[in-house]
Amino acid sequence: MSPDLAQLRAEALAAIDAAENLDALKGAESQYLGKKGALTALLRSLGTLSAEERPAFGKAVNDAKVDVTTRLEAREEKLSGVALADALEGGPFDPTEPGIPPLVGNLHPITQVTHELVDIFEGMGFSQCDGPEVEFEWFNFDALNIPASHPARDTQDTFWLDDGNCLRTHTSPTQLRAMLKLGAPLRVIVPGRCFRNEAVDATHEHTFYQMEGLMVDRDISVAHLIYVMKTLLREILGKDPKIRLRPGFFPFVEPGFELDVHDPFDSGEDKWLEILPCGMVHPEVLRFGGIDPEEWTGFAFGLGLQRLAMLRYGITDIRDFTGGDRRFLRQFRRA
Ligand code: DAH
Repeated sequence: MSPDLAQLRAEALAAIDAAENLDALKGAESQYLGKKGALTALLRSLGTLSAEERPAFGKAVNDAKVDVTTRLEAREEKLSGVALADALEGGPFDPTEPGIPPLVGNLHPITQVTHELVDIFEGMGFSQCDGPEVEFEWFNFDALNIPASHPARDTQDTFWLDDGNCLRTHTSPTQLRAMLKLGAPLRVIVPGRCFRNEAVDATHEHTFYQMEGLMVDRDISVAHLIYVMKTLLREILGKDPKIRLRPGFFPFVEPGFELDVHDPFDSGEDKWLEILPCGMVHPEVLRFGGIDPEEWTGFAFGLGLQRLAMLRYGITDIRDFTGGDRRFLRQFRRA
């Protein structure tokens, strides 16, 4: 190898090794191997040599070119890896570092509460039923003793569809659907989404969740209602609940009650909280459901799931449930 060639080769290798990034490496490549590169120029100069000199010099230049190309490729691979690692990690790549933990979601608090309630009621022989969110006016109102002229319609203003159907204002219409489908005796719960034409604020939502319960059998009395409600509350609260029944008016039950619980979540305050509207199914509603009220009686209740979750977790704004803020939702992650 001529001294010029040897020097050129050494320079090229040094320039490649010194390249700190891919741009610098590209610069070195074109300086030595590009169209106007120094090694390329040497190869071109072969034509000026004599026939005897040409093969040996040609081989020497070619060998040098192979060395430089090989080193260039190796360096490129290394720098690309660094660039990728930099891009991914924002710094030099360290394969011993733990990975980025995958994002794990969790069930929505309302879903969690629903699952819990379904479990409790299944233990008491209730089955879970479902009903449509777009409901016939008859099921949502008339068959629940709320005819068009009834003032209760005002408190349950809803969204009407062009075909005369509405978005259900409560889960109670499913009482009728269950009675007509299953007949007596029956025990059902119906968790589901309901809608009302409400101005939204911290305690009112146009979209909310309830769980309806209905039990129909022979000789069902208020005592059965109280027993089942107390069992439910004992499971949810983890203590023997102190309850009271106040008269409450709902057109589809008679008598109707507001079931209050004394300090359910141990705030230490001497306070009764209204948690469970309920009552004995009105004979007319049983009749609408195809069940003979002379032979069968029943009780029903409607549990507001947001309200329950708000009381339990100390949530003060109902809009948090549907706000989609992950900081709110991930507080309900369970290990
Ligand atoms: N459907 C009623 C509401 O949304 C709640 C309710 C009250 C349901 C009494 C019942 C009941 O089953 O017995 O306001």
